[in-house]
Amino acid sequence: MAIALTRQFSNAMENQLLHGKKIVVGVTGGIAAYKAVEVVSRLRKAGAEIHVMMTREATEFVTELTFREISGQSVSCDMWAKVQQYNVEHIALANLADLMLIVPATANVLAKTAAGIADDLLTTTILATQAPVFFAPAMNTGMYNNPATQHNIAILMERGAHIIEPDTGHLACGTEGKGRLPEPATIVQEVFDYFCKEKSLQGRRILVTAGGTEEALDPVRFLGNRSTGRMGYAIAEEASKRGAEVILVTGPTNLSVPAGVRVVKVRSAIEMEQAVLREYDKTDVVIKSAAVADYRPKETAAQKIKKSEGELTITLVRNPDILYELGQRKKHQVLVGFAAETNDLATYAKRKLAKKNLDFIVANDVSASDAGFGTDNNRVQIFYRDGREESQPLMSKAKLAGIILDRIYEHLNEMSQGIELFPKR
Ligand SMILES: Cc1cc2nc3c(=O)[nH]c(=O)nc-3n(C[C@H](O)[C@H](O)[C@H](O)COP(=O)(O)O)c2cc1C
Repeated sequence: MAIALTRQFSNAMENQLLHGKKIVVGVTGGIAAYKAVEVVSRLRKAGAEIHVMMTREATEFVTELTFREISGQSVSCDMWAKVQQYNVEHIALANLADLMLIVPATANVLAKTAAGIADDLLTTTILATQAPVFFAPAMNTGMYNNPATQHNIAILMERGAHIIEPDTGHLACGTEGKGRLPEPATIVQEVFDYFCKEKSLQGRRILVTAGGTEEALDPVRFLGNRSTGRMGYAIAEEASKRGAEVILVTGPTNLSVPAGVRVVKVRSAIEMEQAVLREYDKTDVVIKSAAVADYRPKETAAQKIKKSEGELTITLVRNPDILYELGQRKKHQVLVGFAAETNDLATYAKRKLAKKNLDFIVANDVSASDAGFGTDNNRVQIFYRDGREESQPLMSKAKLAGIILDRIYEHLNEMSQGIELFPKR
């Protein structure tokens, strides 16, 4: 699918779209260090203020002088060098950065930062900064595929670092494989995309539902499901980071509420319906990731049901179909649903998309052991109302949250230009 976010930044350089952004570029001791020169040059041309930091090993590959000339700023290498501009340099640059970009990132630096080691100026700054950190790993395929490196990358991603995936191709060591630094233009595009997304949902009101519902049998027992709420919480967190006003209507979970998000805690499907309908008219986007019980006990015992001989029969009645109701009342809202299925995923998801009048539906197979309920990862297919489909590989729920919000942003953009991106077929 064409990504509007990317399109918007295609003229980033000409339009100085990074004007006012302060980027600390960390260069480490890999053979691809020379490509960082072009990355710095492009970022500067796009208006960013660039501060380069080099490891000692990086200076074996490219001189400090080159980066000083290309960035137009002094280059920091040594933690113990005489301080020129800042009082405590590692803290100063860590605080100053709107973004840190480590290009290339050696296996060594990935390992050190994953372990929290801070034994030189660059790793100390990475540890100290609150800014988003992007790593562009580049190394020999064996080093890249080594479980130690893969584990370190996974740890960094879990903590919110952005990993720019290396390319596959001819490597400096004479072999073919994964580990090549992507072209400077690709790396710079990732930075543009980040800043573009940063406030992309400002002024939007987004309602997210999360977690499973509990349908009471008596004062101490309920019918529930295995949803942990992680997907919805990840979406709420990312939407808030992108500037949206976020209302999270959540069933009981063990998760902490993301910063800046207004939370409405509910237990049952009926409580969830009431909370969602109260907010619906004032909302631009609804993302229904909660696992709402289809049925509830017809009666809730006022007192604890006592054990007795023989079988116990509980009659269940249908709960309201919240998503269907939202689809019926839909005016300006973008409506996104989730389908968790154990079989015939595409068929059920497409049926739900049409029946509930959704803009798109995110479907996942909850029978897979490595994705879905209770795990940190998800592998999904997205079905759009115009019939298009897209498959997303196994990835963290945080990353998937970003992709879902990218699609919503694109849709909102198209709607405001009067073009319906996902017209009903
Ligand atoms: C010629 C040469 C090329 C190297 N290329 C890479 C590389 O592409 N990626 C990598 O992870 N390490 C590479 N190394 C190894 C690193 O330089 C080494 O691990 C060093 O300790 C990294 O230091 P730093 O991470 O502090 O910059 C290379 C070493 C040499 C001698």
